[in-house]
Amino acid sequence: MTDKTIDNAIVNPKTYAHVDEFHRLFTQLRKEEPVRWTEPDGFRPFWTVSKHADIMEVERQNDKFLNDPRLTLQTIEVEEEVKKFTGGNSKLIRSLVDMDNPDHRNYRGLTQAWFMPPNLKAISARVEALAEKYIDRLEAKGGECDFVSDVAVWYPLRVIMTVLGVPAEDEPIMLKLTQELFGSTDPDMKRPDATETVNTVTEFFNYFTAMTEDRRKNPKDDVASVIANATIDGEPIGHLEAISYYIIVATAGHDTTSSTAAGGLLALMQNPEEFAKLKANPEGLLGGAIDEMIRWTTPVKHFFRTAAVDYELRGQKIKAGDNLLMCYWSANRDEEAFDDPFSFKIERSPNKHLAFGYGAHLCLGQHLAKMEIRALYKELLARLDHIELAGDPAWVEASFVSGLKRLPIRYSMK
Ligand code: HEM
Repeated sequence: MTDKTIDNAIVNPKTYAHVDEFHRLFTQLRKEEPVRWTEPDGFRPFWTVSKHADIMEVERQNDKFLNDPRLTLQTIEVEEEVKKFTGGNSKLIRSLVDMDNPDHRNYRGLTQAWFMPPNLKAISARVEALAEKYIDRLEAKGGECDFVSDVAVWYPLRVIMTVLGVPAEDEPIMLKLTQELFGSTDPDMKRPDATETVNTVTEFFNYFTAMTEDRRKNPKDDVASVIANATIDGEPIGHLEAISYYIIVATAGHDTTSSTAAGGLLALMQNPEEFAKLKANPEGLLGGAIDEMIRWTTPVKHFFRTAAVDYELRGQKIKAGDNLLMCYWSANRDEEAFDDPFSFKIERSPNKHLAFGYGAHLCLGQHLAKMEIRALYKELLARLDHIELAGDPAWVEASFVSGLKRLPIRYSMK
C-alpha cells in the first residue's frame, strides 16, 4: 500500500466493516509505524496511535493530552457544516468526553455514584427481568432470527432508557437517532437529508429540552432528574451541558452494549470449544467471557486527544496542538500486550483491554454494560439448546462506534 492508501484506509468507514482488512492494516501499522503521521484526503491530519502502551501513556496524562477540541473522525466537510450551524464551534454538543478539567471532574462527579456497583445493585433485578423478557422474545421468534435487529439492539436500549427515564413508547425514536448519529457513514443507517448530523442532534435537543423541563417540575428516581436538577458550585448546570449529558448517556449506553452482545455471540459460535466450556460452567466463566467479548469486539473504535505541550511518543515528535487518534481495537490486538491476541479465549487472564478507554475518561457505564451482558448471557445460556449461523453476518460501516448490523441465527431452546 502506498502512504496515501494507508492514510485513506485508516479513515474509511468501510475498513471497519471488513474485520480482517482492518486487522491486517493495523497489524502492519503496529509493526512498522506505531505512531504514524496521517494525512487522509478530506480530513485534517493527525497522528495514528495503534499500540496499547502508547494509548495508555497518552490517556494517563490528561493534563498534557486534552479531549477538547477534536474528539472523533469527521470529514472537513462535516466540520465546516457544523461550524456554520453553531457559529464557529466544530462540535454540536459538550458532554463529558468533550470536557477537560476542572469541568470534566465536576460534571462526571454529578452521576458517577449512580453508575457504580453499589448503586447498580438496586436495579439488577430490573435488568435481569428485562434480560428474561428479551430471551423470551428470542424464543418466540421460533428458531430463526436476526439476533441484532430482533434482540441485541432492543435490550440495552430498554435498560439505558429505564435508567435515564425515557418512556418505552419513545424508544424507537431514540434508537433511530442513535443509529443515525453513529451510523451516519453507513448507507443502511444514514438520514436521507444532506445536513444529517446537525438534524439528528437538533431532534435530540428538542426531545431532551422538554424532558429537562418536566424533571425540574416533577423529579423522579432516574438519571434524567439528577441531570435536570444538578448544580455545580451552587449554580444550575448549563443547558448545552445538560442536554449533552442526556445525549451521551442515551447514545453511549446502548449501541456499544448491543455490539458486544451480538459480536460476543458470533465469536462463541465461531469458537465452539470456548462456547462448550462456557455452557458447562457459566457461573465460573461468564465474567472472563464478557471481558473477552468486549476486547474482541471493541465497539468504540477510537477517540482523539490533542497535545497541550510538545511531547515525544515512541520517538515521534508530537507538537502542541497536534491531534492523536487512539485506536482501541488495534491496541486490543497488540501482540506486546496480549498472548495470542487473535484467539478468542474466555479464560484470558490477565485481560487488560482498552475497550473502555483508560484514565480520567474511563467509561462511566462499564459496570452497567457488564451487568447487562451478564444478565443476558446468563439467561441465554440457561435456555439455549443449539445455535448456528444461518447466513452471512454484516458489520456497520463506521469508524467511531461500530459492530454487527446483521447476525442471522438458527437455534433451538431447551
Ligand atoms: C466513555 C466504551 C458502555 C457511558 C467511554 C469511552 C469508551 C467507552 C472507549 C471513552 C474512554 C476514554 O476516553 O478513555 C464503552 C463500551 C461500552 C460502553 C465498549 C459497552 C460495552 C457504556 C454505557 C454507558 C456509557 C452502558 C451508560 C451510561 C459513557 C460515558 C462516557 C463513556 C458517559 C464518558 C466518560 C468521561 O468522559 O468521563 N465509553 N462504553 N458507556 N461511556 Fe462508555
